This record gives sequence, C-alpha cells and structure tokens, in this order.
Amino acid sequence: MVSVTRSVFGELPSGAGTVEKFRLQSDLLRVDIISWGCTITALEVKDRQGRASDVVLGFAELAGYLQKQPYFGAVVGRVANRIAKGTFTLDGKEYKLAINNGPNSLHGGLRGFDKVLWTPQVLPNGVQFSRVSPDGEEDYPGELKVWVTYTLDGGELVVNYRAQASQTTPVNLTNHSYFNLAGQGSPNIYDHEVTIEADAFLPVDETLIPTGNSSGCFPAAASLPAFLTSIDLNVVWLIPRVHHAGSGRVLEVYTTQPGVQFYTGNFLDGTLKGKSGAIYPKHSGFCLETQNWPDAINQPHFPPVLLRPGEEYDHTTWFRFSVA
Ligand code: BGC
Repeated sequence: MVSVTRSVFGELPSGAGTVEKFRLQSDLLRVDIISWGCTITALEVKDRQGRASDVVLGFAELAGYLQKQPYFGAVVGRVANRIAKGTFTLDGKEYKLAINNGPNSLHGGLRGFDKVLWTPQVLPNGVQFSRVSPDGEEDYPGELKVWVTYTLDGGELVVNYRAQASQTTPVNLTNHSYFNLAGQGSPNIYDHEVTIEADAFLPVDETLIPTGNSSGCFPAAASLPAFLTSIDLNVVWLIPRVHHAGSGRVLEVYTTQPGVQFYTGNFLDGTLKGKSGAIYPKHSGFCLETQNWPDAINQPHFPPVLLRPGEEYDHTTWFRFSVA
C-alpha cells in the first residue's frame, strides 16, 4: 500500500511558478520529490531496529536547490555526464554546447533538466513528471518530450525515464541523488562497504572523459577507504550493492542502463548548508548514477546514445533498500 500526498514546497522567484512536493510512502520507505528538477529531497529508510533516517543529502527549502549546488537529488539531462569539449557531429552538422566543466560539457549544460519546473501528475503509487525540452534547448537538436516516473513498491524506489524526439538527438537521463546510509549529515561514507559486480570500468583522462578503452580490474568488493582516493568513474554492466554495517541498511541498484557513474562526493567541500544543519564535507555522500557511458556521442563503439524520431527512450532503475 502506497500513499501519495501533495503540498506546496516553495515559490520560484519573479512569479515563475510554484514548486510542489510529492510524498510517497510505503511500509518501508518514505520519499519526497519536488517538481523542480524532479528532485528527490528526502528518502527515509528504516535501519535494522526499525528506526527511519533520511539517507539523501539535500536542502530543507527551495532556495537551497536554486543556488549553485552539485545536482542534489535531481534528474540530469538532456545528456548526463560529460561530452568532450562540448562538441559532437550529427548528420554532418557540428553542435557546440556550453562548456561548464573544465573543457567539457557536463550534465546537460547551463540550464539542464535539473533547473526547470516539470508538470506533475499523481499516480496511485507514485508521481509522474513531464516536460517538453524545446528544439535547441541548451543547443541540443530537436524537441524532446520527457516523462520521469517515480513509484514505490515496498522497499524499492523505481524510476522510469521515457523520451520521444522530433529530431535525432543524444539522450542520457539519470538521477543524481547523494546517499549516506548512516543518515544524511553523517560526516563521511568511510564505513560503507561497496560491492560492484562489474565487467569493467572506463578509465578516464584528466578531464574525466573515457579514454575509449575499458579495464576489467575494478575491485569486486571493498570497504570504501580501502580503495578510496576519490572515485568518479563509470562502471559497466553491474549490480552495485552498498552496505552500512552500523545501521544494517543495504542499497542495491538495478538498471536497464549500460553503466553507472559511481561518484564519492569528491567535490563536496562543506560550504553548503543542508538539511538539519548538515554541511556536507568531501566524501559525505555517494552517487550511483545509472546511465549510458560518458561521451558516448563521440565514441562510436560505446552503447548507442542517439534517439531518433519514432523511437522511444525507455529506461528504468530500481533502488532496492533492505537491512542485513
Ligand atoms: C560527476 C562528477 C561531478 C558531479 C557533480 C558527477 O556525475 O561524475 O565529476 O563533480 O557529478 O557535478
């Protein structure tokens, strides 16, 4: 049994609209999602004693999400991750995107899908957000209709992404939640054990663009400090599992996507004021961003990233919580 409640989260400046919050609750999970960026603002998960804690980083108020911040909880698009030098060629035409991360384009550009208001629709067990990304938005080709659907099923949060294009365009959608299974606001994630049954990971250059090769030697299971210098790379064909022994909480991620960006919050620096007075220092949260491989538009041997008119982009990710 899932309940869905709807409330006002905040008003955008200059009368640009009302951001609503949708609370989805099952016996095991409670998740809050707002219509700004389809952003997960809170996710309460029980520990082995049945005590619930909020396990995602974020802000109590809308202003937190409108400031410069690293995509807390948001849906990222039209193309998540990096496109080398913000450039690609499609049907003989060269496209130049805004450069917003070193020499590259990151997470959809200056005003990506995380920085727009979506249209919500309540479902019996969740909420669906939709929007039309206009032709030329952030310099991407063609109009793109997008639907992001969050549903709860017991201990599982399911996110489905669908899109249809009027012109051939790259599409790569993900959710950028930062988790800390000890409870958000805990100082780091060093007491989490991460198991990744991956075929390979994608080595990157100094600007975090895949070199085009893949490497099979990702550690199969490790306590984070054992291999944590700072991780920010894409692992491919896998089921990540994260266990926090102190609380017993376990997160497993299943997906139809070909890869997952495993990011350990290396660029968090303790300057953001989060929920309940949290400050989010380096390594205080981790992301498991299910997605296509970075820079796939420029690396033809990577999984296909182009969506053509008449086709449908349709991907699903399951965040499964349990205790052990
Ligand atoms: C990237 C990081 C980036 C972070 C926040 C992640 O998806 O892999 O390099 O710093 O997003 O922008």
